[in-house]
Amino acid sequence: MFITIEGPEGSGKSSVTKKVVERLEKEGFEVVLTREPGGTPIAEEIRNVILDKKNTAMDPVTEALLYAASRRQHLVEKVWPLSKEGKIVISDRFLDSSLAYQGGARNLGIDKVLAMNMFATEGYYPDVTLLFDIDPRIGLARIAANKNREVNRLDLEKIEFHDSVRKAFLSLAERFKDRFVILDASKPFEDVVEDAYKAIKARIK
Ligand code: TYD
Repeated sequence: MFITIEGPEGSGKSSVTKKVVERLEKEGFEVVLTREPGGTPIAEEIRNVILDKKNTAMDPVTEALLYAASRRQHLVEKVWPLSKEGKIVISDRFLDSSLAYQGGARNLGIDKVLAMNMFATEGYYPDVTLLFDIDPRIGLARIAANKNREVNRLDLEKIEFHDSVRKAFLSLAERFKDRFVILDASKPFEDVVEDAYKAIKARIK
């Protein structure tokens, strides 16, 4: 089973997901938590290039291609082998981040970025996608307050950029209704953990 976690910056998705994974493991489920961009050594190297604050000259299509390249490597080396072994693989970000950030906010077009990604993923979709929905103003304020979280090249974008990321995510949730679950990430931390846990638990086959 392949579960993906999506949402804008500062939605708390990573901390919430860690808690949910701990809970599932305590119940005896074999869960592997991974992330994009990254998740394997080659994909992490690509991640460093994408997120480096120095790379202000990066072209949006180059950016989209690099995310897709890191995704491909992550699928081949990690997601596909582990899910074949019967593990529950949970990825902090996946395809929908490319659709929302590069397709939506960077204006490359959701369908173009989807088509490009299909080459990398061979049409592989997650079984379930949790969308941690939150107003980016709240999310960015959380990041500013959390000194342990490094600020990356995309965090530095203007608020309009983050608004269009959110809008694109919500339109994807509408388009791919069968696999999306929208969570209200502005709720208190423990409540979001509970909602995320329930959403996953209800869909474990
Ligand atoms: P990261 O530090 O992992 O941020 P977060 O904790 O918010 O997940 O950085 C990942 C950044 O890359 C984030 O700003 C979202 C962006 N991103 C894309 O633009 N496209 C993609 O396909 C993916 C996977 C991430």
